[in-house]
Amino acid sequence: MSRTHDIFLIGNNETLEQAITDQLKEEFQFTHLSSQNLSYELKKHVVELAVVLNTDNESSSDLIQTVLSEFPKAFILYIDNESDFDLLREITRLGVSDYLVFPEEESVFRERIHMLSERLQSSRDRSTENFRRGGGKIFSFYSGQGGTGKSLIGSSFAQALKLESTANVLFIDLNTQYGGAETYLNVSSNRSLIDLLPVIQEINEHHIRNIATSESYSNLDVLISPRDAELAEKIGEDFVVRLLRACKRNYDFIIVDLPTWMEERTYTALSESDRIFYMISLDTAALRILKNVEDLFKQLAINTDEKLELVINFSGRENELTKKDLERFVTYPVAAKLRRDIKGVQAAVNQGAPLRKEAKEKKLTPVSKDIQGWVRSMLK
Ligand SMILES: Nc1ncnc2c1ncn2[C@@H]1O[C@H](COP(=O)(O)OP(=O)(O)OP(=O)(O)O)[C@@H](O)[C@H]1O
Ligand SMILES: [Mg+2]
Repeated sequence: MSRTHDIFLIGNNETLEQAITDQLKEEFQFTHLSSQNLSYELKKHVVELAVVLNTDNESSSDLIQTVLSEFPKAFILYIDNESDFDLLREITRLGVSDYLVFPEEESVFRERIHMLSERLQSSRDRSTENFRRGGGKIFSFYSGQGGTGKSLIGSSFAQALKLESTANVLFIDLNTQYGGAETYLNVSSNRSLIDLLPVIQEINEHHIRNIATSESYSNLDVLISPRDAELAEKIGEDFVVRLLRACKRNYDFIIVDLPTWMEERTYTALSESDRIFYMISLDTAALRILKNVEDLFKQLAINTDEKLELVINFSGRENELTKKDLERFVTYPVAAKLRRDIKGVQAAVNQGAPLRKEAKEKKLTPVSKDIQGWVRSMLK
């Protein structure tokens, strides 16, 4: 039997499952994967054709995203009990091939599955690359040490990424107290992350774009943190997971500025990150702190393999150590080395302006130039 005839049924909905298997059990072989532990279960299979079922208390987009992040080329047919235009739009953007509402469209299901199965066969024959949206990357800026440039460099990195590419970029300040990034980017807004609290269970692109403010030179989208510590307490682990997953569906890059303090939010954002940029200066104190952070990451089971990269900041002649010394002590790759640029940074901060003002600026200050080089090499 050709492997086209394996269909994965994903999600929990007995009525829908019954309706589907009744129609097709003679022709196809079904494997059912529950929404619980889905990422883990998916690792045991090769999914090329999947039917995702509307599942109580689960976001359909999350289920689809989980499948597509593991198998970006899978063909997915989504089935719901009712039609929902916003959802349809969202999952189409994610890369879902087809969408049906049962029982109204039950009669066309068989035909649609056959069509997908044929498309799968021909795409196998051609073995073409099939680019799909929905896999935004989360890069977080972290350090176990305060004042290492997480906010300044993180926000300038996000701005540069926006200026140097056509990607959709979002910067999130997760400091939940005064973070500093707003000053560096010179944005202000009376809307903050806290305004997403009432809609967090069904958060979508609209909500995020409504709350985000835009940095005027680059059009970078920015989500700022509430200034009120009491309100900020309401932003927990669940909020951060839902927010970041929704952002992944709507942006190509999500840059997260984190506090030094290892709280639930920080931990969650680090776990959800595709890459962690750890800001470090070239001195022995910074190395000691990095070692402590490594222990903490181990205790908390935060996986840093192929995720953590060092960003050297405040580089200059007066540094106690060199990059070579650093590389002797740690095995993480160094993503970038950024110069200490007192004049350039101070001038921008004093003017209340971000480090860069346009895509083709004639004279960039040293730190902007270093960030530009880093971003360009990453985009290659
Ligand atoms: N490469 C650099 N050259 C000159 N000044 C810098 C550089 N990087 C950061 N700074 C300055 O260092 C100070 C600390 O930076 P920043 O606020 O970004 O650090 P942080 O790690 O976010 O701090 P916190 O832990 O308080 O959140 C700021 O005054 C900033 O302008
Ligand atoms: Mg900061």
